[in-house]
Amino acid sequence: MNSNTQHVSPANSSVMGKPHFHESARAQVSGSAVYIDDISELKDTLYAAPIMSRVAHGRIKNIDVNPALRIPGVKGVVLSSDIGGDKYLANFTHDEPILAIDHVYHVGQVIGLVVADSVMGARSAAKLVQCEIEPLPPILNVKESLKAKSFVLPPVHVKRGDALEAIKASEVTISGNLEIGGQEHFYLESQIAYAIPLEQSQWLVHSSTQHPGEVQHWVAHALGVDLNAVRVECKRMGGGFGGKETQGGHLAVWASLAALKFKCPVKMRLDRDEDFLITGKRHPFYYEYKVGFDKSGLIKGLELMLASNCGFSADLSGPVSDRAVFHVDNAYFLENVSISSYRCKTNTQSHTAFRGFGGPQGMILIEHIMGEIARQLDLDPLEVRRVNLYQPSSTGKRCVTHYQMTVEDNILEPLINTLAQSSDYAKRRKEIAQWNASNSLIKRGIALTPVKFGISFTATLFNQAGALVNVYTDGSVQINHGGTEMGQGLHTKVAQIVAGELGLPLDQVRVTATDTSKVPNASATAASSGFDLNGRAAQYAARQIKNNLAAFVSGLDECGAGAVVFEDSLIKTPHKNRAFKEVVQLAYANRIQLWSDGFYRTPKIHYDKTTLTGRPFYYFTYGAACTEVAVDTLTGESRVIAVDILQDVGRSINPAIDLGQIEGGFIQGMGWLTNEELVWNEQGALSTHAPSTYKIPTSGDTPQHFVINLWPEPNQEDNVFGSKAVGEPPFMLSISVFEALKEAVSAGLEDKVMQKKRINLSAPATAERILRAMQAF
Ligand code: MTE
Ligand code: HPA
Ligand code: MOS
Repeated sequence: MNSNTQHVSPANSSVMGKPHFHESARAQVSGSAVYIDDISELKDTLYAAPIMSRVAHGRIKNIDVNPALRIPGVKGVVLSSDIGGDKYLANFTHDEPILAIDHVYHVGQVIGLVVADSVMGARSAAKLVQCEIEPLPPILNVKESLKAKSFVLPPVHVKRGDALEAIKASEVTISGNLEIGGQEHFYLESQIAYAIPLEQSQWLVHSSTQHPGEVQHWVAHALGVDLNAVRVECKRMGGGFGGKETQGGHLAVWASLAALKFKCPVKMRLDRDEDFLITGKRHPFYYEYKVGFDKSGLIKGLELMLASNCGFSADLSGPVSDRAVFHVDNAYFLENVSISSYRCKTNTQSHTAFRGFGGPQGMILIEHIMGEIARQLDLDPLEVRRVNLYQPSSTGKRCVTHYQMTVEDNILEPLINTLAQSSDYAKRRKEIAQWNASNSLIKRGIALTPVKFGISFTATLFNQAGALVNVYTDGSVQINHGGTEMGQGLHTKVAQIVAGELGLPLDQVRVTATDTSKVPNASATAASSGFDLNGRAAQYAARQIKNNLAAFVSGLDECGAGAVVFEDSLIKTPHKNRAFKEVVQLAYANRIQLWSDGFYRTPKIHYDKTTLTGRPFYYFTYGAACTEVAVDTLTGESRVIAVDILQDVGRSINPAIDLGQIEGGFIQGMGWLTNEELVWNEQGALSTHAPSTYKIPTSGDTPQHFVINLWPEPNQEDNVFGSKAVGEPPFMLSISVFEALKEAVSAGLEDKVMQKKRINLSAPATAERILRAMQAF
């Protein structure tokens, strides 16, 4: 039976589409919301701390743990030799040792664990372990790994038309390169897991993870037990941002192995410095490009080389690099294009998912090229962007992506035009030019850039979800679904959709902790699709219950089930209104099922991995931002002054939460492109591993003018409530900051030499880099 079949009329709700508070906002600010470190500990709980490599690449000759064992309270250590079964993590690529085996591959790699009866005891003892490591030559950057052909996965090439010929035949050509840095997730709650051995070789693991199902799989594999012996629970994360899509699993496996050896519950939490040194970050990228265009700025041919710094193992680098390839077009039709993507292996942390998942790294390249073309031709960059936009699919022209997907829901042109008007882009650009002409110290810049972001996991199989909805005999409702809460408001939105379906107030519906024993085989909460997938699954479950109740009351009142309405805590037939609770009690007494599961899989999507062609995305989420910046030509310091955003979220399920996602995503992206600089020293050690040296944006960095509007149309595809995914797309609006900064730098150069046409600025655009770019003549 298709649980989507609705025998009852749609709910007319005061819950859906409304700006409700985040379900745990009050608990979070008052401190009563529970994170893993707040869970009351069981008797005999021990604590594990990591023994980390101080060498970027080397062969382990000897590990002397005796100095650690002498510390009072230390129970022992866990090394690779303690692992009875497979010494590798059970991930897709099977290339990552759980604990270093006989080699180390980056500074910070976990060689072993010290287990003690206190957190600080374990940590200080771990620092005393002596590892004798024979150094081997490391590869510390992408250029070296390209030269050495050192890759974690084979290169991928995607082509359409003949880029080389088209570039040759173009009126103007330019070529160049660009470097974009990585980014630390800086979730407030660092990585943590608490592993609890239960009776008869069963396990409960509390894990701060976006993917409890994968943690269950990894832990079961490492312990050598079946999946049904491991239950993983995640109440909430203090932020994930992609950093807990895979990397929360390591902690869970380490804590479980320690718990196995010492037969006690074991908790392991990284401190901030350890988290920086051990876990992967956003992939840094290096690019080379060659572009041919005409005098209007229309791109004729484009050759792109993308090299992602993946670190020492594959982790999610394959799909991240694929998503970069899928998003090098951003909003633009590329007629003749040739893309090469290299997945570089380096002796650093294994880089991983981070909001946008390679999308930002793909888009920033084409946006940089748009700016370069405009400066070359002395055109307004917005005009160059406009001439290259995808055309509406109704024209049948310039509407198919380089991976052969037709862009059917294109709203780029009206969206950009609306924002250009509301932000007064053209007038401000003129004023800024006048300002720059008469001010030599402070230069200003403005840029308006669009975003088109593909929604769905590119690996089609992950686009499925399940949910469980229970109605209790007092009429209260409990939901469990496969998605995890990391602050993004997923549970709030899922509760809204179920409350709306059942015609109940929001406070009558609760979402419980994500639990692998309730909804099995759930995908990661990622790819911005948490609500699309789990919201629909929960909606289907609620509709099933509704169908049961409607059939029951229509029997009582001898009407059609289709005439039954659920609203205002009432169940209404043409003859009678009854309280929801009353019907539930009557239905229970008549042995009607009051709970249901729901399952959803995204329709229409498919794609061929070998050629990267097909329809990987169900739809696109669009947006655009207009950003104005100011740069101090003496110090290189910069400031974001004004930001106007127009974001498409379809029909918003919760405008307050969506607005929060847009603000947060934009500011996080701004940090990536301006202040957040990761520095690895010549020995391959990350020297920026604490807030003292790594600067994320603070509230003081919020632009004074920060205006966000929502696009008024619903999703053109049949998505839950007509909404669109919102978690990641706004992150990429921050590319407007980088483009505006280059405009300001260009104005700074204008006073000096003819160099203004090419801007040599890599990201993050720190004060030093901006100063250097302005002195580039
Ligand atoms: N918002 C908050 N507050 N915290 C987070 O960790 N992660 C982002 C985004 N917004 C994140 C967030 C990322 S990387 C993704 S993929 C989505 O939320 C995941 O949640 P969703 O699919 O439910 O939108
Ligand atoms: N996005 C985010 N996370 C993922 C994806 C994706 O496309 N594929 C696998 N994990
Ligand atoms: Mo988000 S990077 O897809 O977890």
